Amino acid sequence: MSVLCCFYAQRGASSTRISSWLMEPLVLCVFVMTVARGQVRYSIPEEMTRGSLVGNIVQDLGLDVKRLKSGRARIFTEDSREYIGLNVDKGTLVVKERIDREELCAQVSPCSLHFQIILENPMELHRIDVEILDINDNAPVFTRREIQFQISESATPGAKFSLDKAQDSDVGLNTLQKYTLNPTDHFSLKEQMGNDGFKYAEMILQKTLDRETQEEHKLILTAFDGGSPQKSGTIKISVLVIDANDNAPVFGLPVYRVSLLENSAKGTDVVSVTATDKDKGTNAELMYSFSQTSGKALELFSIDSQSGDIIVNGDLDFEKSKHFQLNVEATDTGGLTDSSKVIIELMDVNDNAPMISVISFSNPIPEDAAPETAIAMLNVKDLDSGRNGQVKCSIAPNLPFKIQSSASNFYSVTTDQLLDREKISEYNITITAIDEGSPSFSANKTLTLKISDVNDNAPVFQRQSYTAYVMENNSPGVSVLSVKAHDKDSGNNARISYFLEDILVNGVSASTFISVNTESGDILAVRSFDYEQTKEFSIRVKAQDGGNPPLSSNVSVKIIIQDQNDNAPQVLYPVQSGASVVAEIVPRSADVGYLVTKVVAVDVDSGQNAWLSYKLQKATDSALFEVGLQNGEIRTVRQVTDKDAVKQRLTVVVEDNGQPSRSATVNVNVAVADSFPEVLSEFTDFTHDKDYNDTLTFYLVLALAVVSFLFIVSIIAILSVKCYRWRRERMFYKSGANLPVIPYYPPLNADVGGTGTLQHVYNYEICRTTDSRKSDLKYGRPCSESIISLDSSGTQTLTRAQRAKLNNEDPFDQVSSRNPVNAKCIFWLQLMTFFLLLLYYFSLTKKKKKKRGGGGGGGFFFCVMFR
Ligand SMILES: *[C@@H]1O[C@H](CO)[C@@H](O)[C@H](O)[C@H]1NC(C)=O
Ligand SMILES: *[C@@H]1O[C@H](CO)[C@@H](O)[C@H](O)[C@H]1NC(C)=O
Repeated sequence: MSVLCCFYAQRGASSTRISSWLMEPLVLCVFVMTVARGQVRYSIPEEMTRGSLVGNIVQDLGLDVKRLKSGRARIFTEDSREYIGLNVDKGTLVVKERIDREELCAQVSPCSLHFQIILENPMELHRIDVEILDINDNAPVFTRREIQFQISESATPGAKFSLDKAQDSDVGLNTLQKYTLNPTDHFSLKEQMGNDGFKYAEMILQKTLDRETQEEHKLILTAFDGGSPQKSGTIKISVLVIDANDNAPVFGLPVYRVSLLENSAKGTDVVSVTATDKDKGTNAELMYSFSQTSGKALELFSIDSQSGDIIVNGDLDFEKSKHFQLNVEATDTGGLTDSSKVIIELMDVNDNAPMISVISFSNPIPEDAAPETAIAMLNVKDLDSGRNGQVKCSIAPNLPFKIQSSASNFYSVTTDQLLDREKISEYNITITAIDEGSPSFSANKTLTLKISDVNDNAPVFQRQSYTAYVMENNSPGVSVLSVKAHDKDSGNNARISYFLEDILVNGVSASTFISVNTESGDILAVRSFDYEQTKEFSIRVKAQDGGNPPLSSNVSVKIIIQDQNDNAPQVLYPVQSGASVVAEIVPRSADVGYLVTKVVAVDVDSGQNAWLSYKLQKATDSALFEVGLQNGEIRTVRQVTDKDAVKQRLTVVVEDNGQPSRSATVNVNVAVADSFPEVLSEFTDFTHDKDYNDTLTFYLVLALAVVSFLFIVSIIAILSVKCYRWRRERMFYKSGANLPVIPYYPPLNADVGGTGTLQHVYNYEICRTTDSRKSDLKYGRPCSESIISLDSSGTQTLTRAQRAKLNNEDPFDQVSSRNPVNAKCIFWLQLMTFFLLLLYYFSLTKKKKKKRGGGGGGGFFFCVMFR
């Protein structure tokens, strides 16, 4: 928009005055001035279109159009360029060419075109100044499109960065007026006036940059001019923030928690720790390491410094250490660090078997131990923990024991039932401990428990009762039977002694019949039994063990005495008497088979031994009588005749059926007569002859017995005296030498029952020992004489010669010196008498044999005497 103002210019008005008017801020006018011979000044804005009117010189110079034509008015410029043309017809000045003030004047202001209008006829010169006014046709312009800065994030606030200048070829207000910067969060702008008069701007860092929050800042710098409308130019500013190591590494977690099996092998991954560093490049290169505070765990784990992988590097054992704490550090190249913890919890693996240890063990225990008796205390340990360390203990089934937990890890083994050593004397108690791990481990412990004996079993005889058979007439001391009892206990409790119980047998003590060997149970007969007195009897034998208190049992032993044929038959009838003669009378008229008499005999033996048979051994007339074999009846065989003698004598043998058999004879006198006086006359001499013989024999025997007795007594007396003397001498000698004399009295064998057999043997052994050849022991007599002198010094012993000197006196002399009767004479006298009597006896027997046909009685007597 332009305002046209008119000035009434006066001639001669100085250009300086006009210029000063132009200075007036309120006047923006285009002046059309007519200056005669002076100058006319016009102002036009630049860039007017061609043909635009600049000024009317007809008016301003006071010329008319004719004159212009006649004067051939034209424009004269010093340079050839004509921006302004002259329209002669109208007398106006118009824009002929585009006028660019910036081109014409650049920054010079004011900018004017100077030319002359020349008129001829008369020549007139009119100076025209056309001032070209600036219009805002140029915006501020930066030469570059973009500015790039690289600013370290460590740059401190206040740092300055100069920016490019903008250029605006307009002048005055239309030229560059100010800059603005956007955004202004980190930077502010400060305008400065350069030496050349152009404004420029500096960018000032207001707030520290942080690459980590914003790596690049985009800013726009705008330059404004003061025109209207206002124009502007922009330039991009790119700020690239350069990283500084201003960030420490940061671990992903403050604490890493890991669970790990204790049996993890070397090389097992534990955990990977990672730290981040917000910085960039080398500032973000991290190294991982354990810090020294990790202690012992350092040996078990290792860390990869690049990756942060932690692996197992040793043998882990839950039982030694349950958890570890590793302090890890991440360090960037700038030396900034962060630390974190890795807490590793080891998880138990069942790698330990339970262990059983015996704290106490009562062995053996008696069999009568009550149930719940404690046998053993055990301690069971498992190093594992949790279920892996929980242990259960058990005992093999079928054993009379149980196991109980008394306190944690402590167990007691007790009996569960009553025990019986006789059934099972030893137990192997196997205790199994098993943990609850999976798979589980177990351990065994075997206790060998011995059961000690208690005397709870009485001896038991092998049989309920015993029966022994003994032949009568046994020798005393013979073994009848052996009883045996057994005791289930052991040791002393099973050591059995046998005793005879003192009961009465037929009114006397059983011990008079029988003795029992305490050790062996042999039953011995104390004496010779007689079947005819006692056929059987019972005793009781007690077996007693050695326990405390002892237990016993008894058994009955029946002793049956067996018969021996030791008794000859005894004839009861007819009675045999020396004094009178009994005769059976057979009448001569007796028929055949007449029963004369019956021989009645008994045998106290029994059975076969008492089964008697009768035979006729001898008869005056053997054809006349016979004897019933079984019944002993004497009968006539034929008719008695007159020729038969009155006096008949029969000898009947009664024989038993024993083996060997025994017999008895009986003489039966039979008188065959019809009257008693006849009988009497016949029998008188018969008896006399017999009596005489018997009496003679009796006296003879008596004499022989007396002489024999005296003979034996003399021998014993002589021997005793001799022995006595010898003893006296010995004792005298010993006491004189002051040497000890130890008389030795062997024990008397009072025990006839045979239980003392040991004593017999013992005694015998002593004798044998003293009898040995080399011994210096002096013994002159068999043991039964019971003196042994010990020469313990072994130095002085009587030689045989010395002894002979002491003993030189004849034993007979000794006797004679004490007794007035000469012993020698008596001795020889007795001997002679003995032989004489013997001789006489033999001759008598011969005579008798001749007369009577022999008899055994004399032989028997001889035997008796000889013993
Ligand atoms: C107990 O064990 C031992 C040794 O193994 C063996 O000799 C013995 O016979 C066993 N005892 C029992 C009663 O099984
Ligand atoms: C013998 O044993 C029985 C039981 O067998 C007993 O009753 C009796 O008393 C015992 N006799 C003696 C004398 O001990």
